[in-house]
Amino acid sequence: MVVCRLFCRRCRLSWKCCCKFCCIVTIVICVVAMKFVHYIMVEMNCTDEESKSVLQDLCQLYHRGEVAGSFCPILCDTQLLQYRSCLNYKGGKYALQMVCKNCGASMYPPAVNSVKIQSLMLKGANSAGDVKLVFKMKDKLEETKQSLTGMFHDHLEIETYINRTRESVRNSYRNNLMVDMSHVHDIILYTWGYDLSEYLSQSQSHPSQVTSLKGAIYSILSLIEQQEYLLSKLLQNYTFLPQIFGTCGPAYGVEFTETLKKFEQPFSIGTGIDWNERALIAIKLIDLVKLMDEGLHETLHMCDVKPNNFGLRPNGDVTIIDSDCALFESDLRRQFGYSNCSSDQECAFFDCLGTCNIVLGKCYMDRANTNLQTICKDVFRGYSSAFTTGILHSPPSHIQPELSSLLDKCSLPESVRSQDGQPGKDIENLGLDIQTLLQSSIKPHRT
Ligand SMILES: Nc1ncnc2c1ncn2[C@@H]1O[C@H](COP(=O)(O)OP(=O)(O)OP(=O)(O)O)[C@@H](O)[C@H]1O
Ligand SMILES: *[C@@H]1O[C@H](CO)[C@@H](O)[C@H](O)[C@H]1NC(C)=O
Ligand SMILES: *[C@@H]1O[C@H](CO)[C@@H](O)[C@H](O)[C@H]1NC(C)=O
Ligand SMILES: *[C@@H]1O[C@H](CO)[C@@H](O)[C@H](O)[C@H]1NC(C)=O
Repeated sequence: MVVCRLFCRRCRLSWKCCCKFCCIVTIVICVVAMKFVHYIMVEMNCTDEESKSVLQDLCQLYHRGEVAGSFCPILCDTQLLQYRSCLNYKGGKYALQMVCKNCGASMYPPAVNSVKIQSLMLKGANSAGDVKLVFKMKDKLEETKQSLTGMFHDHLEIETYINRTRESVRNSYRNNLMVDMSHVHDIILYTWGYDLSEYLSQSQSHPSQVTSLKGAIYSILSLIEQQEYLLSKLLQNYTFLPQIFGTCGPAYGVEFTETLKKFEQPFSIGTGIDWNERALIAIKLIDLVKLMDEGLHETLHMCDVKPNNFGLRPNGDVTIIDSDCALFESDLRRQFGYSNCSSDQECAFFDCLGTCNIVLGKCYMDRANTNLQTICKDVFRGYSSAFTTGILHSPPSHIQPELSSLLDKCSLPESVRSQDGQPGKDIENLGLDIQTLLQSSIKPHRT
């Protein structure tokens, strides 16, 4: 409309002509916009039809014995798990939102197969016993299938196949996460939830033991190709990753959590969400950074940092939702080590910045920024460097200047490394300073 008014003022045409022109312009703009929106929706997002057909295909495979997993019976043989919506399919990755009706702690789903359904008892249900979850899988089924056909060429003892599968699972932890799992006695039980030989002896419902074996092995091998799944299994004792409820073939169901996206500056001018709540989340995120930096066997680098990739449980815990780009220190060093460069930008692994050794044309192995810096920059402060749009927007005015200056310091990559190349102590202290300031700004609720 503004465009129209400008045009009318300048062209000095009669109102009638002007209106006609405006109509045409408006219609053209609308049509183009609708086409564009449609394109975005179709290309980038997903449809319910496609999602449902993915689930149907999976259940078909399950009924033929070609995939297996703790979640298959409940997904395919009961009405308990209901599809709600699709979250996206980016990069061949499916994420569907589902709800498990009455799967709360109060009742067990009816036993529909001989395998241990009890393991499905879901935690975190609301009072009605419904559990929200996200069903995820990577769409590389065909590749894994093909590699399997090779594996079953020669007819070997079942135990040999099981041994080989065990070996593959261990290798996957080593190659993808660079951790040694030789101390875990039954790596398949640890990763998949069932002891494979016990599982085979119990599953009589499928055509033959060989089919069951193939289905189980295929399911295990396709799960361990998914970094996020492996990491969740490895760190299952910690609460900062969404809990995995179960698997079916290459797919797995994880706890649904709200993301932090809704705490960002809303486009409309308004008060948004209560400051106390956002300040508490920020304090927890800094605690989480501390755990990532110092609490695990190696630093876990979060290399894809944005509010949408963090979750919030009803009890206030924060979680890392999309851990595909979370790398342990030695893995990140390996990434940097691979890369040739002529500028620092070429060394960056998403939000994990690197530095280029111009003389050698190789990236330095050390990360140039820290977890705290990316959180400060991309979650607390937000996409605008001029004013805060992240979750710490609109603070109480008495802390505003100090918070703003702390966030500026914390977001700068320059201040990170001291002369010896180690992360500077000052950046660590900044986290504490921010926490202290936020804590002081939280008003106790009147009771
Ligand atoms: N456990 C979860 N709880 C709630 N929402 C989730 C959960 N896991 C994923 N999502 C949502 O589903 C979407 C797709 O998740 P996925 O892990 O596939 O991320 P992605 O494809 O890497 O997308 P992005 O680029 O947004 O990180 C994300 O936008 C995320 O908000
Ligand atoms: C499988 O591995 C176990 C333990 O390592 C070993 O004792 C057994 O002989 C192996 N079986 C086969 C058939 O390779
Ligand atoms: C996880 O916790 C269980 C039980 O508390 C324990 O037996 C196991 O060793 C722990 N695993 C890791 C990797 O810390
Ligand atoms: C980096 O450069 C070396 C030597 O020029 C080359 O052999 C190597 O393949 C390059 N690596 C990548 C990842 O491009």
